[in-house]
Amino acid sequence: MLDTTALNQQRNFFDGHAEIWLFGYGSLIWKADFAYLERRPAYIHGWERRFWQGSHDHRGTPEAPGRVATLIRAPGAVCHGMAYRITPEVLAPLDVREKNGYLREKVPLTFVDDNGDAIKQSEGLIYLASQDNPAFLGDAPLTDIAWQIANAHGPSGPNRDYLINLAKALRELGAKDAHIFALEQQLERF
Ligand code: BEZ
Repeated sequence: MLDTTALNQQRNFFDGHAEIWLFGYGSLIWKADFAYLERRPAYIHGWERRFWQGSHDHRGTPEAPGRVATLIRAPGAVCHGMAYRITPEVLAPLDVREKNGYLREKVPLTFVDDNGDAIKQSEGLIYLASQDNPAFLGDAPLTDIAWQIANAHGPSGPNRDYLINLAKALRELGAKDAHIFALEQQLERF
């Protein structure tokens, strides 16, 4: 199976930094099972969240992959999520957890206050599964994506829970995300 762990350990965009900001746009929003110093709602510009990455190791299996979130470039769009201030050693276990096609990328982050207004900016790190990785599934009719999610299960649990937890976390952040909320609605049919 695909394993991006070694590649990521060479992607040291923040070499020499004692602390870095990690931006979560998928499961990291609601499942932060790592030590962090602080967390803050934030967004990134020019990206949209999509359930276009296959999950063979967490929310599905090699025979019946699930679908999890990745980002696609979308000029003018914003993608809301959660930023975590971490020490760099936190990344090694995340590299392993996200080894099925995700690569570290450096991006500008914008932090928001309780009203959703921008308050400050910083460089941050995301894990991105781009369309050239072998586990990338890409677009499909929304109903097919929802059906696949409804039926996939993996070592981390039902794929359905991933989508429901993400939609709930985005509502709690007051974030708009048409793709995620439409998928959540479709999921209710299955
Ligand atoms: C995220 O929440 O940002 C994320 C989680 C798993 C893989 C990639 C990104």
